[in-house]
Amino acid sequence: MGGPISGLPFTFSALEARSALAAAGCNVMKYRVDMSRIEYPERVRLARLPTALEPLVRTGELLGVELYIKRDDTTGTELSGNKIRKLEFLFADARARGADTIITCGGEQSNHCRATALAAARLGLRSVLLLRTDDPANPPALSSNLLLDRLAGAELVWISRAEWARRAELLKFQAERVRAAGRTPYIIPEGGSNAIGSWGYVLAAQELADDLARLPAKPTTIVYAAGSGGTGAGLLVGSKLLGLDKKDIRMTGICVCDDRQYFVDTIHRICSDLDQQFGCNAGVEPTDIDIIDGYIGLGYAESQPAELEVLCDMVRREAIVLDPVYTGKAFYGLVKELESDSARFGQRVVFLHTGGIFGLFPLAEKLAQIVN
Ligand SMILES: Cc1ncc(COP(=O)(O)O)c(C=O)c1O
Repeated sequence: MGGPISGLPFTFSALEARSALAAAGCNVMKYRVDMSRIEYPERVRLARLPTALEPLVRTGELLGVELYIKRDDTTGTELSGNKIRKLEFLFADARARGADTIITCGGEQSNHCRATALAAARLGLRSVLLLRTDDPANPPALSSNLLLDRLAGAELVWISRAEWARRAELLKFQAERVRAAGRTPYIIPEGGSNAIGSWGYVLAAQELADDLARLPAKPTTIVYAAGSGGTGAGLLVGSKLLGLDKKDIRMTGICVCDDRQYFVDTIHRICSDLDQQFGCNAGVEPTDIDIIDGYIGLGYAESQPAELEVLCDMVRREAIVLDPVYTGKAFYGLVKELESDSARFGQRVVFLHTGGIFGLFPLAEKLAQIVN
């Protein structure tokens, strides 16, 4: 679904992109990574990179593994988390196509929508967000991510769960409305998870390779939360292009919605799109995609006490604040897997913290029961 709707091919002139962005005062980079054949598309600088790789010594000792955390929660403050890495490439593409209005969709507390609204504001563009909620006639009060969406000036369009199934159509409808008003729309699919957005995590794989090259070589698994698949797809393509799979460095996703097969299919499709649209030739196969399910718990964005207890422990033991919807569930899954088999992921585990802190605040009452 989704994708840019202008009908233009995905390749675009670097010069055009640079001049469009320069006119908007944006910092554009095109660069090569000399140790590999990776040549990245244009990128707008939004994230503070590289993020740190930090040891979690106390938690690692408890779990019987050498544990690190990759701090993608610190890509920024309000413009933070994994979405910003994807939006760097998506916004460069949007500007190269002359877009002035970004349209995207997500749940009512979507981190991706918040990041998109703020990135649009930063770059002087408008944003329209299609937000899924139980009763669109009675939308939720402005709080957390939603409050930030409105503070950033995003136009909110409420849709029901039934309408969510037709989101591709509804995104196009909004694009036509924007066009009819004389503006130029650009559609970003949910989570920014398409081939262009996933370049953000090809670049993150490069960063992780550099981080790990500074440590003694050991079998390592990078564990991430899978929500719409773009993070996993970028990591896997990056891993193939950089030969990490041959260095005993694996990527494992823990899904927070849907199931294993859904993510294998979705991630494989995005990886194939990256190969086809950009000539990456990474050749990621479904068998390369390691996904663990079984930790969705009560359902997407529904938390159970055991998950919140692990989240609370992490704040008290490490001052690491996970979010309840993505990283909290994935980390809970990691803890449970390691508790049953500390050798499950090899000697070293890197947990990718993909952000989402604003998702904590709607859960204040539930969390109060745990901390009190
Ligand atoms: C905080 C956070 N972590 C992880 C994810 C999952 O990443 P992806 O959608 O790329 O699978 C998301 C969004 O879906 C997110 O907001």
